[in-house]
Amino acid sequence: MSDQKTSCFITFEGGDGAGKSTQLERTASWLRDQGVSVFETRQPGSTKLGQELRYLLLSGDYTPVPEAELLMFLADRAQHVRDVIQPALNAGKWVLCDRYTDSTMAYQLAARKLSMNADLEPMLRFAEIGCQPDLTFWLSLPTEVAAIRMRKREEEGEEATRLDKESLEFHQRVHQAFASITQRFPERIKKIDASASVDTVTQQIITHLDPLLLWI
Ligand code: TYD
Repeated sequence: MSDQKTSCFITFEGGDGAGKSTQLERTASWLRDQGVSVFETRQPGSTKLGQELRYLLLSGDYTPVPEAELLMFLADRAQHVRDVIQPALNAGKWVLCDRYTDSTMAYQLAARKLSMNADLEPMLRFAEIGCQPDLTFWLSLPTEVAAIRMRKREEEGEEATRLDKESLEFHQRVHQAFASITQRFPERIKKIDASASVDTVTQQIITHLDPLLLWI
């Protein structure tokens, strides 16, 4: 939890195609209607350094080895925490962040199998610089359904990133990993059924936020 009572750090997690970005925007708008001062951000790519890292990681022009990929996501996070997230929390804002450490656990540690031979969790904590989410929404969607949504987005002209193009098995490992992370941290992470309609998904999220409004 951040050091000011009025602030709150909320992260949105899930596989590609789960609809996180839409739900983050809708949640931000609902919170603003309740009088909350909200700051929306995402990883990777929300600082000047982060924009370069995002390009290196996702454009497909480079193929970082799994170890390098992990270190670049962590570098993006550390820069983002110090430059953006911590200052916003210190200013009393509610920070809504599209992806955070759980994504690294799911994509790099689990799906890339980096955690098989090493305990990398201390590195994850190091990159967070003490900034851990108060609440996390895992937008859960079966991998096959997500793949159909991703194909549709591509047909509509949205460019797929290097990670979007990973195999179905890779995305299945990501999904499995989010499921086990959610079991590990049941207090912090709320599973949301992302296969429901956009309005129903937002409603599920709001149900968890209502009690938090007592903070402000
Ligand atoms: P983005 O275009 O932001 O996709 P999405 O809308 O699905 O979030 O791409 C971010 C990609 O980076 C996504 O495929 C997940 C991946 N990622 C990691 O592999 N590890 C991480 O730590 C983070 C933050 C993201």
